[in-house]
Amino acid sequence: MNADGRTRLNQTPEWTALAKHREELADTHLRELFAADPERGTGYTLRVGDLHIDYSKHLVTGETLRLLRELAAATDVFGLRDAMFRGERINVTEDRAVLHTALRAPRDAVIEVDGENVVPKVHAVLDKMSDFAQRVRSGAWTGHTGKRIRNVVNIGIGGSDLGPAMAYEVLRSFADRDLTVRFVSNVDGADLHEATRDLDPAETLFIIASKTFTTIETITNATSARTWLLHALGDDAAVARHFVALSTNAEKVTEFGIDPDNMFEFWDWVGGRYSYDSAIGLSLMIAIGPDRFREMLDGFRLMDEHFRTAPAETNVPLLLGLLGIWYGNFHDAQSHAVLPYSHYLSKFTAYLQQLDMESNGKSVARDGKQVDWGTGPVVWGTPGTNGQHAYYQLIHQGTKLIPADFIGFAEPVAELSPELTAQHDLLMANFFAQTQALAFGKTAEEVRAEGVPEELVPHKTFQGNRPTTTVLARELTPSVLGQLIALYEHKVFVQGAVWNIDSFDQWGVELGKVLAKRVEPALTEGAEVPGLDASTKALVATYRELRGR
Ligand code: F6P
Repeated sequence: MNADGRTRLNQTPEWTALAKHREELADTHLRELFAADPERGTGYTLRVGDLHIDYSKHLVTGETLRLLRELAAATDVFGLRDAMFRGERINVTEDRAVLHTALRAPRDAVIEVDGENVVPKVHAVLDKMSDFAQRVRSGAWTGHTGKRIRNVVNIGIGGSDLGPAMAYEVLRSFADRDLTVRFVSNVDGADLHEATRDLDPAETLFIIASKTFTTIETITNATSARTWLLHALGDDAAVARHFVALSTNAEKVTEFGIDPDNMFEFWDWVGGRYSYDSAIGLSLMIAIGPDRFREMLDGFRLMDEHFRTAPAETNVPLLLGLLGIWYGNFHDAQSHAVLPYSHYLSKFTAYLQQLDMESNGKSVARDGKQVDWGTGPVVWGTPGTNGQHAYYQLIHQGTKLIPADFIGFAEPVAELSPELTAQHDLLMANFFAQTQALAFGKTAEEVRAEGVPEELVPHKTFQGNRPTTTVLARELTPSVLGQLIALYEHKVFVQGAVWNIDSFDQWGVELGKVLAKRVEPALTEGAEVPGLDASTKALVATYRELRGR
């Protein structure tokens, strides 16, 4: 038993039953599962909102799914889910509520944190954002010299960058094409340099996005951006027209010199990686407009409601979370690929990396004890079909099992020319062909039947049995994006709940930050840093030598 009254996960009867079932299924091939059940292709599918989810190409039977759901019941996934939606402090190590779902709650909802309904505050900020976004888009908000704002540069990192940067890319075809919207995150000065080198400071708005407003990368870049602006405009008063802040920390925002009236607030119950539908989405809202932004929130809400109310048998985030556990914990899969067949989703997987890996990259359970079961996978992937010509070889014929999500759309975006629209079927033919090849492979007999010389037969044989989920929607809209992101948020939640880890803290990023602060004076001044290890000491010396110091 744990301190929190739970039996160690891998000692529960549900876990043991899954391990046994895995052994029983060891020699079963997807070819057999499909042959045994002609309805599998339609039966193993679910529909939520605009998303059609096909999970037939997974190494599971009805019994596997039943056993996985029993594991979810034994670990009280739905109990923790309800506690999250109620605003309980389920982020135990930071003693915080986890309420990103409140960011998309309807105006009349009541969600309380410490006895206060937070929904009116959420909508007050959304209204303030909408008003500001409209003024920038219409030209009513001008820069210090009276020029119209034509460039928006978001400065933030991690959750204060990846979400809006990804979503802007996804929804580019809905964006005002007369606005230049850029994202700066890296403390490498090259990032800010490239983002600003061709911009007119008089037409540029900087959005400084930082939940804490203490993140060194963001504050350093924001300070450099202010210097760049003031160098051109020569008047401190310009800051008020060219800088706004998105933060929970009004004090630090004011200290930086940004008018608190130009601050868009969010709250400590919104985790950084769960924040792009909060004030952190201001750059996106300016780009696509408040109405489209609200459509996106509707999409999030649709998936929230599904997760909150759908029974276990048809609950898609639960299903996807459990399938990940099936592979990670019972098939020893180390990673999970997300492979979107949409150019607009080029930053989607990078966004999911933070969502998943910062949430579930933990090795201590909520009771403070080391886990002795695997937790979050390495999440990776890039848009098809580029990946097909790079790393798919390993997915098809390598020695590692890599479960993958394929995400595609029936329609290309509306603004493509007829000629480019015609390319869409080819893109999607690849999409369908890949999951088919991964699942069913090609037997040695099939290869031989093509007249392939015997010595090449093993090389040209595809084992198959590589599991995939297919997510298909008609088109990529703001609402569909919201549905997809909320789906992954809740999938990650399910896995963290089963593994009994705190998916909402991120202590693992702290040590590097502290050490960077300690090492910096050694680089700049050659200062003696007490306790520096021999390797780092030698590297710092080489760095200084190379820089001629
Ligand atoms: O990488 C650690 C982290 O705390 C993330 O969780 C967060 O999204 C990011 O840094 C940025 O933090 P902030 O918004 O406070 O600048």
